[in-house]
Amino acid sequence: MEYNINLTPPEKDTALTLVLPVTGKKLASGLSRLDSAAGGVLSALVAAGEVGEKPGSIASTHATIDGQLRRVILVQTGDNPDQATFRSAASAAAKAAAAGKGASAGNHLLLAVGKALDIQTAAAVIAQAAVFEGYRFDQFKSKPESVSALTGVSIAVSKKGDLEDAQAGLNQGLAIGHGVNFTRDLGNAPGNVCTPTYLAEQAVALGKSAKIKVDVLEAADMEKLGMGSFLAVAKGSVEPPKLITLEYKGGKGKPVVLVGKGITFDSGGISLKPGDSMDEMKYDMCGAATVLGVFKALTALKLPINVVGVIATCENMPAGNAYKPGDILTTMSGQTVEVLNTDAEGRLILCDALTYAARFEPETIIDIATLTGACVIALGHIATGLYANDEKLAEQLLDAAGTTGDKAWRMPLWDDYQEQLKSNFADMANIGGRPGGSITAAVFLSRFVKDTNWAHMDIAGTAWKSGAAKGATGRPVPLLVEFLSQRAAKAAKKK
Ligand code: BES
Ligand code: MN
Ligand code: ZN
Repeated sequence: MEYNINLTPPEKDTALTLVLPVTGKKLASGLSRLDSAAGGVLSALVAAGEVGEKPGSIASTHATIDGQLRRVILVQTGDNPDQATFRSAASAAAKAAAAGKGASAGNHLLLAVGKALDIQTAAAVIAQAAVFEGYRFDQFKSKPESVSALTGVSIAVSKKGDLEDAQAGLNQGLAIGHGVNFTRDLGNAPGNVCTPTYLAEQAVALGKSAKIKVDVLEAADMEKLGMGSFLAVAKGSVEPPKLITLEYKGGKGKPVVLVGKGITFDSGGISLKPGDSMDEMKYDMCGAATVLGVFKALTALKLPINVVGVIATCENMPAGNAYKPGDILTTMSGQTVEVLNTDAEGRLILCDALTYAARFEPETIIDIATLTGACVIALGHIATGLYANDEKLAEQLLDAAGTTGDKAWRMPLWDDYQEQLKSNFADMANIGGRPGGSITAAVFLSRFVKDTNWAHMDIAGTAWKSGAAKGATGRPVPLLVEFLSQRAAKAAKKK
């Protein structure tokens, strides 16, 4: 894929696919010459209401411009779009461009910018959308089925003075898009390929290509640390567990620590899951994949902050030596847990990872986990469940969710829910019954973070899609990169 910014007037552009913005009831400004060159067909389509009024609605047509038949995608951006609106328009346009058949010598996205949106943000949004929509996961197919027609993207600007800002935005969008697609690749990779060892290798490779220090702890190291809970989950699998840490030092001050759940396959263990859609439990490492995707973006963006990643990864399998309901585990924190269901394994690996995270003297800890089916019942596949023990942190994360359209919704962490975790035999049980299942999982985790600013993101409903569109979404990489970018901007201001 080739990406660039150009100053070519739209009517002189030689691309075979043109993406043109429609702002409300008219073709965006600066396109009248192109429209004339096409015999007025573009403005006629817009006037006839073919494009639709909803941002992201599209009309696709072909027009002969300058003696060459071209595909033209008209996309409604709204009159004065905010970032989220513009994003939906850019995504729809990029999706349509990628779905094209036949030859196309580069796709030119000529999306206009509303007054509310600066050129840098617009270019970033376009680039990210193009990278996202051009994504295919076909390395396991003998013959790829749907090849993306987005072979190149060129963003047109009208003023020379805009070139630099547009280029900066383009670079940002590419960094985030590539981070997101890395997360999708890891998520989509099957469980027999994407094992804990594979995730560790991916982290090490990332560390080599960027300024990140990567460490991989083995079972013996975890034994010494007293991670009795994490190791219990891993016990029934022949795949060795790994605790991966990544350290990125881009600035001063205490780090943000991102903790990822990396169950590379969740069979449920002895409390075996039903067979329906069990294949989708290969996605139970999407929290870990999110951490790696964020690091990929972070290092490309060279954000001036410190970030640490902690990934707990293993398989959850039934076996003769697997952990069982009734077992009592001693966590690294010293607290004991009675296992009432081996399928509530995510919290059992995360609790030790959260205790371990304290070593990095975090300013903030954020864990990301495909933690509960109950979260999917609560919020569906639209919003990530967000929990936070600090108001400011919650606000910043929700802000980032709003800006990026990578939606999240705040859930409560009230102590009232702790009661459901009572055990007759240990400090707590690992499940709290069906009522409020996502919340009781969150309050379980809260016992392992003490006073540190902490947020928990339950991505069970948002990390992947099921059905015909089955595939990893790369969420919540956009949200987290935006959150970290905002932090970096604040840190830079303080200097
Ligand atoms: N990985 C699952 C959560 C999950 C289930 C995510 C379905 C997405 C779709 C997690 O380990 C799990 O099995 N949780 C149990 C907890 C229960 C036993 C308290 C669940 O949600 O059923
Ligand atoms: Mn489970
Ligand atoms: Zn799980």
